[in-house]
Amino acid sequence: MDLGLILLRLAHVVAGAAWVGGAFVMILLVTRTARLRGADGDAFMTTLLTQGKAARYFEIAAITTVLAGGLLYFRASGGFQMEWITSPSGIGFTIGAVAAIVSLVWGGVVVGPAGKRAAAIEAEVAETGGIATVAHTSELEAIRRKLSTFALADLALLGTAVVTMATARYW
Ligand code: HEM
Repeated sequence: MDLGLILLRLAHVVAGAAWVGGAFVMILLVTRTARLRGADGDAFMTTLLTQGKAARYFEIAAITTVLAGGLLYFRASGGFQMEWITSPSGIGFTIGAVAAIVSLVWGGVVVGPAGKRAAAIEAEVAETGGIATVAHTSELEAIRRKLSTFALADLALLGTAVVTMATARYW
């Protein structure tokens, strides 16, 4: 029994499930429902990402998945041998790996900073007696648009990753 490999696969699959499951619930249910509540919902989403530590949750789950996945990839490909990488299964795992890494990098660039900026704008608005300026409103609108674009792309990226990871072994 190869305990090291078992622990690596456990870390990879459990973190991957937490990442993809969490992202789907967040995008398809939580964000959509928050939007139905207007300004209340926007404030809830900002709190969820910052004080609620949702951005941190996704950071930990995604980094664990990718690090463990990278080690599994190195091991499965015999140290990046092209023969494995260009085999049907190798191509499947590679497509999934690339999709997941793009999601991690894009998410890191967009989600964390967007949450922090939205929280800062909300604090500024609260300081001025709860009255948002046109600049505040349009910046919050731009942040929301950026997050929506990412959410749509993320469904496709993580959907691709989970489908290829789940099946590539049998390609
Ligand atoms: C959304 C992210 C991901 C999810 C949900 C995920 C899920 C999974 C699952 C369920 C398996 C088991 C499949 C099987 O044994 O047939 C697996 C295997 C594997 N994953 Fe991922 N994965 C993700 C991202 C990644 C990334 C980013 C990499 C590489 C950098 C990667 C590399 C691999 C490799 C090489 C295997 C085969 C391991 C082996 O042969 O023991 N995965 N993944």
